[in-house]
Amino acid sequence: MRLKDKVALVAGGGRGIGRDIVLAYAREGVHVVVNDIDPATAEATAKDAATLGSKSLPVVADVANLRTSTGSSIRSSRSAGASTS
Ligand SMILES: NC(=O)c1ccc[n+]([C@@H]2O[C@H](COP(=O)([O-])OP(=O)(O)OC[C@H]3O[C@@H](n4cnc5c(N)ncnc54)[C@H](O)[C@@H]3O)[C@@H](O)[C@H]2O)c1
Repeated sequence: MRLKDKVALVAGGGRGIGRDIVLAYAREGVHVVVNDIDPATAEATAKDAATLGSKSLPVVADVANLRTSTGSSIRSSRSAGASTS
């Protein structure tokens, strides 16, 4: 499995297409940082990914405003090599 134990960051991962991407990654053994502007959906999706074996982490941030402290964490994750979707 080529993606096993890789780390991915999915922006807008709480709902819709982003959520589907998170769960598809989790099924492939990827550990997923689930970003969303909505805390409830970020946490729910990260929890569902964890039931599939992913060491998932919800991160609440507005990706349209990466000047915030959480936004800058996302920027750091991306420069550290996390795959982003
Ligand atoms: N659903 C489709 O068939 C379809 C087709 C083509 C393109 N798109 C585009 O793909 C994107 C996602 O579509 P969807 O149907 O999954 O949408 P959705 O509204 O169901 O999900 C978007 C998610 O992104 C989060 N989000 C929005 N703004 C954010 C921000 N600034 N920072 C962090 N998170 C944010 C929302 O809270 C939500 O959880 C949209 O831009 C949509 O226009 C969707």
